[in-house]
Amino acid sequence: MDPDLARRLTSAEGAEALDAARAETDPDSLGAATRLRSRFDPDLAAAALDQVSLRSRAVDKIGPAGAQMMWTRDGLEQATRGPVSAWRAARLRQAGIRRVVDLGCACGADSRACLDAGLEVTAVEIDPAVAELARFNLPGARVLCGDVEALADELMAGAAATAVMLDPARRTGRGRSWRIEDIRPSWGFVRQMLAGPFTTVVKLGPGVPRELLPEGVRVDWVGHRRDLVEAALWSGTESGSGGSRHSAVLVGEDPSAPLTLLGGEPALSTGPVADHLAEPHPAVIRARAMRAAASGADVHLPAPGIAYLLAPEPVASPWLTWFRILAEMPLAEKVLRSWVREHRVGTLEIKVRGLDVDPAALRRRLRPRGPNRATFILMPTSEGARALVARRVEG
Ligand SMILES: C[S@@+](CC[C@H](N)C(=O)[O-])C[C@H]1O[C@@H](n2cnc3c(N)ncnc32)[C@H](O)[C@@H]1O
Repeated sequence: MDPDLARRLTSAEGAEALDAARAETDPDSLGAATRLRSRFDPDLAAAALDQVSLRSRAVDKIGPAGAQMMWTRDGLEQATRGPVSAWRAARLRQAGIRRVVDLGCACGADSRACLDAGLEVTAVEIDPAVAELARFNLPGARVLCGDVEALADELMAGAAATAVMLDPARRTGRGRSWRIEDIRPSWGFVRQMLAGPFTTVVKLGPGVPRELLPEGVRVDWVGHRRDLVEAALWSGTESGSGGSRHSAVLVGEDPSAPLTLLGGEPALSTGPVADHLAEPHPAVIRARAMRAAASGADVHLPAPGIAYLLAPEPVASPWLTWFRILAEMPLAEKVLRSWVREHRVGTLEIKVRGLDVDPAALRRRLRPRGPNRATFILMPTSEGARALVARRVEG
């Protein structure tokens, strides 16, 4: 989107076009496009119709505020989920922060949550069109268009009770990137902010390699529902004292009171297949908080580095999905195929850890047919690769 179109979209003329687009029962139809083009120029008509579908997706991701905001496709994709933004804002408030400087705000999902939490917000965005939309989306905030790597010193000079918030873009001209060298603002700048005197929170992709994380920062591996959504790095007053600290954080109904487990545990010991197996939430695995997730119960792993927990009985925990093990077989396709045939299994779920097996391809080769369903869990054990037949423990 060009900045001029963004300005028009956020003007009175844009509001009129949006009203007309919202009144359409099928905004993606040719009829809707024709009707809007008869009243507005083609670019504004297309942008208004686009907003209708972006806003409806934004409500799913952000919550009701998403319906009042203006989006670009990229801006919505990069936006933080609503409850997670609210958690970050609540944490900043709880730490006594009164003002946040959002260095790379995009359409402003994180900034908006800060405003909603009663924080003062200065937001900066390098893309002029996106900055225009952010200005509309963040009433009451100061929104600047510019390069934060040039502006940060000026913005932070003499500021008290101020936190820096960074959520670097992970895209290149070729699409999404996982390489730390590709993030913008640059990793060098992010590290400089983390080492600075202010409370700083940085959102990184959940796949960030652990060895890249700077020493002395606090790292929250943040889960929402069953997903690991980000690594949040905290420094300054929020980092806690001394050394690195890893936690698993599960954001739920009340974002100001997430479930938290302290991680950084030594590796669990390994042992034989037991009556029950748990799949830990991925946040627990990244934070290395598996013993804590099982409330300190006697659990072990099937093999070094294989993140399944084995125990005689399930331990109730919001972090663990438990399965009862019904049978154990060597990992041989002939054996598995006979089992599937004998038990007339038509719906087969296959979970794999630590083995080079493609579950979809294996499922096809096992030719499931019949009225029953089953779950196979494939993993290495001290006795070699095994296939376990498992049933989810409900509740
Ligand atoms: C991942 S998005 C931020 C999403 C935001 N936290 C949200 O929840 O909506 C990162 C943004 O930073 C912007 N950006 C990248 N480098 C920048 C720079 N040097 N100065 C200012 N903004 C920058 C990008 O254009 C992009 O819009």
